[in-house]
Amino acid sequence: MEKLVSLAKRRGFVFQSSEIYGGLGSVWDYGPLGVELKKNIKERWWRSMVHEREDIEGLDAAILMHAKVWEASGHIAGFTDPLVDCKHCKNRFRADDPRIKGTPGQPDGQCPACGTKGNLTAPRQFNLMFKTFMGPVEEDAAVIYLRPETAQGIYVNYLNVLQSSRQKVPFGIAQVGKAFRNEITPGNFIFRTREFEQMEMQFFVKPGSEKEWFERWRAERMQWVEGLGVRTEKLRWHQHGKDELAHYAADAYDIQYEFPFGWQEFEGIHNRTDFDLKNHQQHSGKKLDYLDAATNERFIPYVVETSAGADRTALVVLCDAYREEEVEGEQRVLLKLKPSLAPLKAAVFPLVNKDGMPEVSRRIYDDLRRHFNVFHDDGGSIGRRYRRQDEAGTPFGITIDGQTNQDQTVTVRDRDTLKQVRVASSALVEYLKEKLAT
Ligand code: GAP
Repeated sequence: MEKLVSLAKRRGFVFQSSEIYGGLGSVWDYGPLGVELKKNIKERWWRSMVHEREDIEGLDAAILMHAKVWEASGHIAGFTDPLVDCKHCKNRFRADDPRIKGTPGQPDGQCPACGTKGNLTAPRQFNLMFKTFMGPVEEDAAVIYLRPETAQGIYVNYLNVLQSSRQKVPFGIAQVGKAFRNEITPGNFIFRTREFEQMEMQFFVKPGSEKEWFERWRAERMQWVEGLGVRTEKLRWHQHGKDELAHYAADAYDIQYEFPFGWQEFEGIHNRTDFDLKNHQQHSGKKLDYLDAATNERFIPYVVETSAGADRTALVVLCDAYREEEVEGEQRVLLKLKPSLAPLKAAVFPLVNKDGMPEVSRRIYDDLRRHFNVFHDDGGSIGRRYRRQDEAGTPFGITIDGQTNQDQTVTVRDRDTLKQVRVASSALVEYLKEKLAT
């Protein structure tokens, strides 16, 4: 992991938040390449979940919501983790931290940080929602929360979307947006952070059909994940046991990836029943049922949710792409990103900074950048320039050399195979478009 974190900083993927002030715990900023990678993942998700489907609409609900939303959703009462404190070293842990020996709150409870016994408190429930105040007076009535999941913005807008889009059940609403959790034990780079982005879709179905839709969505989502180019042997399903299920879920499956720190989830498919809509109906006093015009039946739809983290998916893609290779006796580090996800699609280099090559390479770069995110680099040896782009995951290196002036061709180097082919400079846009199509 350290090598990936260091590459991510060196190449401008991810930086520690507020680094010059010593950093802010488990909050990360995306640099020039990271923002492109994450945007490509989010756009791919949006395209497959919204644009390519007739039965899903998009939404962008506000982060701040009425405090009663979180009462109704059960997050105020139930969105908690059990934590223990060490009275000696003042560190805080999840009560189920496998490093804790003995029983917290008892004389044999041993702190995993300072090693003392008997100083761990008994577990207390800790709510993960960030609280803030709306309006100028810090009074109870004005307490609001930063949303811990984007899903609730979808539930409270379900009727608005249904009526304005003239959809019929079964149909879905999709949203990409920030969520916030005051995680007790955040860590592992961008895996568990306090501010993150979710890509969530709530699919509203007739009660009784949720199991069938649950299976359909499991298959759809795995297919999408495989389309990211991730090695399939590093993916697996994990069904939640009774003790793992969130307070709203009747059934849940995680898609897990084998990260360097072990198998962990990065997307969940949840059967949320009518839990959320029923509770919002009760707390708001507004009817949220659906009239099926075909059968004249009224019902509160059941919900099948697909919930992915954009940051965790980016981490999956980065971990999977990271490779160290030896080429002709030299070590190289590369990100073998799927070309359509790569932040930069190509880098353009003059072989040397003379004989008119810089001018031609600039012209080609200007032309390409109207179509793709590309980079121009004329600094250092060509080998070093290739290596920088390998680390950035740039799939194609385009070099303008002595032959370019004679026949208007350039070399295109493939990041993964290292093969070089000559392509007419006038055909480069088409050539790259074809390679980037999947
Ligand atoms: N609406 C359902 C929901 O939020 P979840 O399993 O708590 O379910 C869904 O979260 C996804 O959101 C996770 O699979 C993960 O990718 C992402 N996620 C959750 N907490 C996160 C955190 N603290 N940091 C980064 N991503 C997180």
